[in-house]
Order: sequence, then C-alpha cells, then structure tokens
Amino acid sequence: MIESVNVTKKFGDLTALNDLSLKINKNEIFGIVGPNGAGKTTFIRIVCGILSPTSGTVYIDNIDIRKDDADLKRRIGYLPEEPNLYMRPTAYELVKYFADLYGVSKDLFEERAEELFRLVGLYDRRNSKVESFSKGMRQKLAFVRALIHDPEILIFDEPTMGLDPATSKSIRDFILEYSKDKTVVVCTHYMEEADYLCDRIGVLNNGKLVTSGTPGELKTLIKKENIFEIEVENPEKVIKNLKDIKIIKFKGDKIIVSCSYKELGELLKSSEGIIGIHSKIPTLEDVFIELTK
Ligand SMILES: Nc1ncnc2c1ncn2[C@@H]1O[C@H](COP(=O)(O)OP(=O)(O)OP(=O)(O)O)[C@@H](O)[C@H]1O
Ligand SMILES: [Mg+2]
Repeated sequence: MIESVNVTKKFGDLTALNDLSLKINKNEIFGIVGPNGAGKTTFIRIVCGILSPTSGTVYIDNIDIRKDDADLKRRIGYLPEEPNLYMRPTAYELVKYFADLYGVSKDLFEERAEELFRLVGLYDRRNSKVESFSKGMRQKLAFVRALIHDPEILIFDEPTMGLDPATSKSIRDFILEYSKDKTVVVCTHYMEEADYLCDRIGVLNNGKLVTSGTPGELKTLIKKENIFEIEVENPEKVIKNLKDIKIIKFKGDKIIVSCSYKELGELLKSSEGIIGIHSKIPTLEDVFIELTK
C-alpha cells in the first residue's frame, strides 16, 4: 500500500533519511520506532506530501506522491507530532471547518462527527471551546479532525506523547478499534505501545532502516542466550547441581540462570525442589536499545 523507494532527504548538509526503502502492506498497522532525530517525522511528512524527498520517492497504492494528487491526499488522515489546533472555535466548529475543506457533505459530516466524538469520549464536550480543553482532550480532538473525511490510510506521529496512562490506553484502544480495514503508520517512543498495536515494526536509526519485522521476530533477533528464572524450595540443593550453568543473579527464592535447553533438562532430572521454571523473553525495549546503540 505504501512503498518507499530509496528515499533520501537532506536538510542542507544533514541527511535526515538515507536511501530508505520499505513496504507497508494494506490493512496492517506498521510501527516506526527509533531515537530522537532518527528521521521518523521526516518520513511521515514525506508520505503525507508535506515534504518532498531530495531523491527517491514514495508510492501510495502505486501512485507516485510526486504527482501531488489531491484525491490521494484526501485518502490520508494525518495526526501530526504537535497538532496545532485553532483555539477560538468550539470542538464541533473546528471539525466542521476541516470537513468543509475536505468537501464532506453535511449529512455525512453530522453522522461521522457524532460517531468520532463518541468514540474518543468528547461527545458531551463538543460544544466547548478548544481553548478550554486539556492536553489529552486536544489530542483526542486532533484525532477527530484527522479522521473526519473517512481516510483509509492513517498516519499517527506519536499519538500518546505526554498523556496519562488511562488516556493513552483509551487512545490505543481507539486506534485498534478504528483501524480495522485501514492501513496505519504509527511513530512511537513507547515500546509497549508498538508491541500492543503493531503488526510489524521498522526500526529507524540515523535515517536508515535498521531492521523490520513483527514484534515477535524482532524479539528473537536479540535472543542470543536462553535466560531462565528457576523457582526453588531450597536454593542450596539446586545450586550444587548447577555445574556449568551460569548464575546471573538470586532473587529471593528464584535463581536467574543462563544455559541451553539441554543443560536445563539435566538440571531438572538431577535436582529436587524446583517448583517452577520461566523463560525470560526479551522485551521490545531490549531490542530497541540493542539495535540503536
Ligand atoms: N525542517 C527541518 N530543517 C532542518 N532540519 C530538519 C528539519 N526537520 C527535521 N530536521 C532534522 O532531520 C533529522 C530527523 O528529524 P525528525 O524530526 O524526522 O526525527 P524524529 O525521528 O521524528 O525525532 P523525534 O523522535 O525527536 O520526533 C533531525 O536531525 C532534525 O534536526
Ligand atoms: Mg518526530
């Protein structure tokens, strides 16, 4: 659905994107993660047609974005990193203004505005002025503004930045609920968010795609050793049988070790008093730090 082909973007001497090629499939939620300054927002702004690449291009549904196709732009809903909202109008008036810009008919507007305001939980406040809204309410309003014309490609730049855990969760659930049958690109610094939302994730660093894959695939990338947490009744007895198994640390009645599955099997046969064994799986945060250090 979205294909970036050798996209380079330079700002003077600075190369923000360096020969970036990637494909985002129809109806998937694709996450972009990477350190500050990695080029995430630059990429997103190129996809939305706000910035032009220095070289290379992006195809959306096989249409070259360099064509500056107004119909194509109408198929995109963009939530910017810092949504600049007009403060004076009411939430309803603001959304109506953008619906008019997109040529949404009056009936369709009323129907969609009600649906979206209800979905984000702002329906009762739709007639309040934007200036009276809290940060979280403004972010929710920015979603309504971005989606009022029923776009099929949704591009969200850090949708939950600076929001409290409950508001962030309601926004994530909204994205999941709303994104069925849509293609979604989401930039985030929150690894649990990427894990929770995304079908696939691309890791950007210094304007380059370091790797991409499902959250599960990325986690196996850095699984160099098997780490197990062994719950024991009597640590003394088990320690005697550890032999070559490397102890990482003791945590109360648990021993964290690094070993192969074979060594673990032998330990199980030879030791009494093992109550449980848990395999420790790396988190996406571990992956992020490993790949972008
Ligand atoms: N309009 C601009 N003029 C000059 N340099 C820019 C411009 N926009 C971005 N850059 C530079 O391009 C690089 C990538 O910036 P970008 O905003 O894409 O990063 P990001 O990955 O979105 O970072 P963050 O996580 O902080 O939002 C940075 O070095 C930034 O300073
Ligand atoms: Mg950014």
